[in-house]
Amino acid sequence: MKKFFAAAMAAVMMGSLVSCGKDQADKGEAGKKKIGLAMPAEELERWNSDGAYLKQQFEEAGYEVVLKYSQNDASKQNNDVLGMISEDVDLLLIAAVDGDQMSKTLEEAKAKNIPIVAYDRLIMNTDAITYYISFDNYKVGKMQADFVRDELQLDSTSGPYNIEFVAGDKGDNNARYFFNGAYETLEPYIESGKLVVPSGKTSFERVATDGWKTDNAEKDMKGTLSVNYKDKNLDVVLCANDSTALGVTKALESSYKGSGQPVITGQDGDIENLRNIVDGKQSMTVYKNVSDEAGVALEVCKKLLDGEIPAANLTESLDCECVFDSESYNNGVKYVQSYLLVPYVITKDNLQLLVNTGLYRWDSSNKYLELNK
Ligand code: BGC
Repeated sequence: MKKFFAAAMAAVMMGSLVSCGKDQADKGEAGKKKIGLAMPAEELERWNSDGAYLKQQFEEAGYEVVLKYSQNDASKQNNDVLGMISEDVDLLLIAAVDGDQMSKTLEEAKAKNIPIVAYDRLIMNTDAITYYISFDNYKVGKMQADFVRDELQLDSTSGPYNIEFVAGDKGDNNARYFFNGAYETLEPYIESGKLVVPSGKTSFERVATDGWKTDNAEKDMKGTLSVNYKDKNLDVVLCANDSTALGVTKALESSYKGSGQPVITGQDGDIENLRNIVDGKQSMTVYKNVSDEAGVALEVCKKLLDGEIPAANLTESLDCECVFDSESYNNGVKYVQSYLLVPYVITKDNLQLLVNTGLYRWDSSNKYLELNK
């Protein structure tokens, strides 16, 4: 946390983005090596920002960048990546639409000795990827659950409180980590009866949301409300991220008949969700600084492109909190060496922290945030 504040303050003082990487001392030396960046979907705010920061940081470091968004379509992404391989990119950095559906494509990259780094989402069942850069995904879910525990004062009140879970897409390996982090933290309260899940949907499979889409989350929540909440209050919806939280908020606005505003969690700091946080329609979001994630990605990729092997000590040269972990992320073939950044909880009381990153600013009303683009 201390480092976050320090980095945030530095950004304010410098009036620029927080850079997680080293300064670009070796800019230019990188020559014209070409990086293939594959992002899931331009439409989702999260990936739109990642694509932009990654492109900017790699270009500033002297690389040529081929950036493709794949409309959340796994087969389109495979084709996009095959295109990059045939263009002879020097390295692939991929946030997979579906981590289970890339292994065949990546064999082609491996055959050409193109290093592959998994960005944010782990790519499964392949030994072709060398590194994984992400946040501590289990911790994201745990932070959402800790927030719920504190809001409802689960350790000092008797309840019972009604809760529902909304998770992410089944093809995204992260989604399971988020769910497990949240569910396992709240499980003791569910077992003791202090938290009740009226829908009975307590497994990841039953609460997963196709494509992480707002519309799908809204539809699913409307279904749950009409079947299970005709005569009950809903106290919490533990939503895995902001796009699903938005759908849940819409469903509540149109179809919730109970009283009180349920606690709603989220993740990402999307603009519309931050508005809802100010307006009391969402309670929190777990924030992951995407420019820091892009900065770490740049450092790891630079080493690989220079023929070096990134190791644990790379984290020492970073100015954001990041741990090296080679024991947590098994992709079915091997434990993938991971660089994991640290997320933060944002509520209506500490929105200024987002402004301090340099990535957001107050809008003209001084009430809501907008992106500092
Ligand atoms: C990312 C989240 C994002 C979700 C939906 C996950 O893999 O880690 O930040 O909200 O995808 O795009």
